[in-house]
Amino acid sequence: MINDVERVLLSEEQLATRIVELGAEITADYAGEEILMIGVLRGAVVFMADLARAIKIPVAIDFMAVSSYGAGTSSSGVVRILKDLDENVEGKHVLVVEDIIDSGLTLNYLVDNLKSRQPASIKICTLLNKPDRRKVDVDIAYNGFTIPDYFVIGYGLDYAEKYRNLPFIGILKPEIYQD
Ligand code: XMP
Ligand code: MG
Repeated sequence: MINDVERVLLSEEQLATRIVELGAEITADYAGEEILMIGVLRGAVVFMADLARAIKIPVAIDFMAVSSYGAGTSSSGVVRILKDLDENVEGKHVLVVEDIIDSGLTLNYLVDNLKSRQPASIKICTLLNKPDRRKVDVDIAYNGFTIPDYFVIGYGLDYAEKYRNLPFIGILKPEIYQD
């Protein structure tokens, strides 16, 4: 697995340090409140587990799974909900947790969908922000790292369902794609 990595973009230590900072910022911003963290399956799971433990106010967690329609139609921004929430978001302070925002289409759809369910507030927290290919504006309240347009894997992110358990964010060797 490690032999497929061209280089480490963000080390385990860099991730841990930044997540403690994000947790402190979120804790201060929501002082006296409770948060409903909504993780976007499956990539956000590892980040969300660490982030939740860096937040020192009460949090509930829930998950959604979405899938963009095939490559040819994904630019339409049409997203299908594969798994909806178990909790009702009405009146709750919702924090949507994503692994990476690329075109922004997935999050844009998701946030619009969640807003229609009348949460008390809604903000986005993403571990990675890849602005080079952004197609729609996304209002990111908490951003771990802004990165160049590489395809990255590890720390929850996959290529063909592999590499999610790498403890760092890495750049895949080009020959892995070309196979
Ligand atoms: P949007 O809608 O913002 O999609 O284009 C974001 C989703 O696209 C996937 N994605 C990646 N997954 N490495 C990955 O493992 C990447 O570099 C990457 N860029 C985009 C991911 O599923 C994310 O939720
Ligand atoms: Mg994702």
